[in-house]
Amino acid sequence: MKFRINGGKRLNGVLKVQGAKNSILPILAACVLCKGEVVLHNCPKLSDVGSAIEILVHLGLKVEQNGEDIRVLCRGINCCEVPQNLMHQMRSSVVFLGPILAASGCAVISMPGGCELGPRPIDIHISALRRLGAEISDEHGMLRCKAKNGLVGTQIDLLFPSVGATENTMLASTLAKGTTVITNAAREPEIVDLANFLNACGAKIKGAGSSTVVIEGVKELGGCEYSVMPDRIAAATFLTAAAITRGDVTLKGARQEDITSVLALLKQAGCSVSVKSDEIRALCDKRPSAMNIIKTLPYPGFPTDAQAPLMSLAAVCEGTTMFVETIFENRYRHVGELIRMGADIKTEGKVAVVNGVERLKSAAVTCTDLRGGAALFLAALSADGTSDIYSIEHIDRGYQHIEKDFAALSAEVLRTE
Ligand code: UD1
Repeated sequence: MKFRINGGKRLNGVLKVQGAKNSILPILAACVLCKGEVVLHNCPKLSDVGSAIEILVHLGLKVEQNGEDIRVLCRGINCCEVPQNLMHQMRSSVVFLGPILAASGCAVISMPGGCELGPRPIDIHISALRRLGAEISDEHGMLRCKAKNGLVGTQIDLLFPSVGATENTMLASTLAKGTTVITNAAREPEIVDLANFLNACGAKIKGAGSSTVVIEGVKELGGCEYSVMPDRIAAATFLTAAAITRGDVTLKGARQEDITSVLALLKQAGCSVSVKSDEIRALCDKRPSAMNIIKTLPYPGFPTDAQAPLMSLAAVCEGTTMFVETIFENRYRHVGELIRMGADIKTEGKVAVVNGVERLKSAAVTCTDLRGGAALFLAALSADGTSDIYSIEHIDRGYQHIEKDFAALSAEVLRTE
């Protein structure tokens, strides 16, 4: 399949933003710890969500998906191993490690392995779980974890505020004996969403959203009804699309406080951004201008996941914008494809220098990863003529029916063979 985009059209309209991919995945993993019924609303229909559901079903939970609702009948797990094929469908499956270990005293998973963003090690996850009392060995690419006497709360200082490691540690310590204090924790809004979900199930977690998270272990978790937070990266993508097409897009159900760093850049580029309760509108009626240095950082800094879409915008701005990618080693793979579309970009290690051109050209391009794919999608929307985008399974991992959403904003997009 590919997307065929007839670009050069001004986007215009109103759209509801999807639920957050990076929130629903750890929340589904958390169901492993629960006993009772969990009902989740605002769940995006994405291939990664399907993979997480497959893992839950494999572990013995009953899952029903109905539109954007997911109902999980949590009754404990009946096995502690996630087969290799399920692990490899998505890297974030490593977030199942902590909950499986906490729920059953053992866990066997294959190493998630490298991926398109560089090596992405899991050493911080492993050292945190060891601090909680797990014995972990790596045998021929399989991680075998045991906690013979159960997990015991302690002080854990993360080497880096890793989002996944913070989530795994929170999940593992929810049912641990005693209190766990995580310092240098990630502060991303998805961490807060996970803590809110767990607390709604009966956990005792304080401080999520700050660098110190305190988890007082409880004996058991029940179920709950919960609505997943809006996807801040999808919101950033659609607002950037408004800027790149000199359009007028209003997002419903979006939270401006989650993307203040992105909104500040869109304003610098010359967009008018207005916020009304849970609505954000971006209006851009002239050629955008270059932005100040864009340096990716842990939250509340500028999100690495929005780097590629913003680079497509920088590619058509008047002037030069510099990017510094500090989170992932290999996150400029979209650059080569943007250059094929006429962008003027030079990279050197962590730095990319983008000299804006008046217009991008249509081309046939290939997605190399999820957000890089979104960047190509935006570039094609702004380019004159028809572009074909290949390897769109990357885009489908993070955007629910992206072609329908953009068509609702009057873009000409077709998903085709
Ligand atoms: C999550 C998000 C991803 C986002 C990223 C950074 C999910 C499902 N994915 O990924 O979209 O781009 O946060 O905001 O929520 N690291 C180590 N050792 C570890 C763990 C991480 O060295 O044990 C490094 C990584 O290689 C990377 C950096 O830390 O360079 C950030 O990774 P992390 O915050 O863990 O990202 P993820 O949780 O994988």
